[in-house]
Amino acid sequence: MAFLELRGLTKRYGGLLAVNDVSMQVESGEVRAVIGPNGAGKTSLFHLITGVVKPTSGEVRFGGRSLTGLSSYQVCQAGLSRTFQLTALFPEMTARENCRTAAQARLGGRWRPWGGGPVFREASRRGDMALERLGLADVANRPAGLLSHGDQRLLEVAMALAQQPRVLLLDEPTQGLSVEETGTAVETLEAVLADGSLTVLLVEHDMEVVFRLARKITVLHRGTVIADDVPEAVKANQAVQDAYLGGYA
Ligand SMILES: Nc1ncnc2c1ncn2[C@@H]1O[C@H](COP(=O)(O)OP(=O)(O)O)[C@@H](O)[C@H]1O
Ligand SMILES: [Mg+2]
Repeated sequence: MAFLELRGLTKRYGGLLAVNDVSMQVESGEVRAVIGPNGAGKTSLFHLITGVVKPTSGEVRFGGRSLTGLSSYQVCQAGLSRTFQLTALFPEMTARENCRTAAQARLGGRWRPWGGGPVFREASRRGDMALERLGLADVANRPAGLLSHGDQRLLEVAMALAQQPRVLLLDEPTQGLSVEETGTAVETLEAVLADGSLTVLLVEHDMEVVFRLARKITVLHRGTVIADDVPEAVKANQAVQDAYLGGYA
């Protein structure tokens, strides 16, 4: 049984099949890249997995239970945390406060979402640990909106990690970064993933980043999976070349 499994996941917007009958099996500890041209359905797939959008049909299963139809809050409680393609932090709050707030969202109970003192302290601890792991301890007390773009993207990863997820979904973590910032981000992510305890779904345009981090790649084209394999096989796949890679390999 797969750790995370998508079964025939489909999302229709009017006449458009944004996600079309996507099935996928992700093992525990796997780093899986999801690639494909703009509009292929990658972000929509993340919305479906994390309960932001309800599927037209199909199922998301995690650790043997169905997540289909759960709210994004409930999906977070189940152990899946994500970043958003477009920045989703609170710019006036410090990096530390952003991480603590993210941790509180998972720790808080249904009726007392912000918890009491013990929850606040534990959330602060988890948030600070996440900042440390992402190399952001030095900027912890700066307003998030004043951080460099590179640090803001890393802060979003820290916020997801502060929720101590079992599955981490990253939507284009290097988007808009300079070559240098991308290098720092990839090294940091490699260090975070090194112990193999996290299962990761990574949407990423930069193929250097994909080939460095992912052990398996799923290729989407117009909502449909056209390849699902190890990086070498995906590179050699003619349909993928035609649809997306355009002679990268
Ligand atoms: N809320 C929505 N309403 C209508 N169409 C949408 C909506 N969200 C996404 N789409 C469409 O679904 C397709 C896939 O979009 P998206 O998942 O953002 O692709 P990607 O992340 O791969 O670039 C696109 O054609 C997009 O315009
Ligand atoms: Mg997208």
